[in-house]
Amino acid sequence: MDIDICDILGIKYPIIQGAMAWVATAELSSAVSNAGGLGILSPVTTKGLVKEIKIMKGLTKKPFGVNIPIMNPNSDEIVKIVIEEGIPIVTTSVGDPNRFTSIFKKEGIKVIHVVTNIKHAKRAEDAGVDAVVAMGVEAGGHIGKEEITTSVLVQNIVNNVKIPVIAAGGIVNSNNFSSVLALGAEGVQCGTRFIATEECIAHDNYKRAIINAESDSTEVIARGIFPARVIKNGFYEWFEALTREEKVDKSLFDINFARSAILDGDIKNGAIWAGQNVGMIKKVIKVKDVIKEMMNR
Ligand SMILES: Cc1cc2nc3c(=O)[nH]c(=O)nc-3n(C[C@H](O)[C@H](O)[C@H](O)COP(=O)(O)O)c2cc1C
Repeated sequence: MDIDICDILGIKYPIIQGAMAWVATAELSSAVSNAGGLGILSPVTTKGLVKEIKIMKGLTKKPFGVNIPIMNPNSDEIVKIVIEEGIPIVTTSVGDPNRFTSIFKKEGIKVIHVVTNIKHAKRAEDAGVDAVVAMGVEAGGHIGKEEITTSVLVQNIVNNVKIPVIAAGGIVNSNNFSSVLALGAEGVQCGTRFIATEECIAHDNYKRAIINAESDSTEVIARGIFPARVIKNGFYEWFEALTREEKVDKSLFDINFARSAILDGDIKNGAIWAGQNVGMIKKVIKVKDVIKEMMNR
């Protein structure tokens, strides 16, 4: 397997900015693409996506992608927009890659599928995707039910598929990057590190919560149901109490709990999605400096 992931995607550095609901807007994603990585827009609404693509095309001439959460009710519509807009790359997540991969391949669109276990990595390879993102339990936001660490997951998936593997979950600096390359990964996908950047539109309170956090500040809620990694706060305490009382129901998975922390800055009662390696992120810096440090190995 000699084909470099950078050649496949037409980028300079194998660093992908992961999809992030609300905050992976054109400001952040274009900064990543312009710095030589791959910016990924992640639409919450289709109207919002069309708007962000237009802005993005004005801000960068470099390749960029769009994320499609396969199981979302609007995924068919997003696929249509991606094709109409001539987007060269998609990342797909949360769902069966067989649903859309052949449609994208026919259009010449590169497909990267996010997985959290070996079985799903093999299914993605069989579906014809170009690469997989192996996302471990350290990741911010929703994680796999299996809760496999990034290092274990990456090496096992590398041993089980022939397509390139991109590591995600807890990658925030050049040392983390080097460690997953040693395990056979060809690149990295980062989420939390890119939130604490000047270009990210996330609320300052959310950025501060990341900067102030330590390696024991995050925990996983809703284990075995719809697990997510969050920074411990009032929301976390409340959710845990309901879990102990076995009172967790569907209404508690409303993504607006995360929105209120991420965009509105309610870091007391909102769900502060963040990865386990927050303790290594100490400053809000420019996207280009995140990428420069990561490539300085
Ligand atoms: C705030 C936030 C929102 C996210 N939203 C999405 C999403 O909409 N779709 C998706 O596939 N992944 C999403 N992710 C996962 C990221 O794309 C990425 O894989 C993950 O953050 C990597 O772990 P890290 O945060 O430790 O770098 C999100 C992560 C965060 C922190």
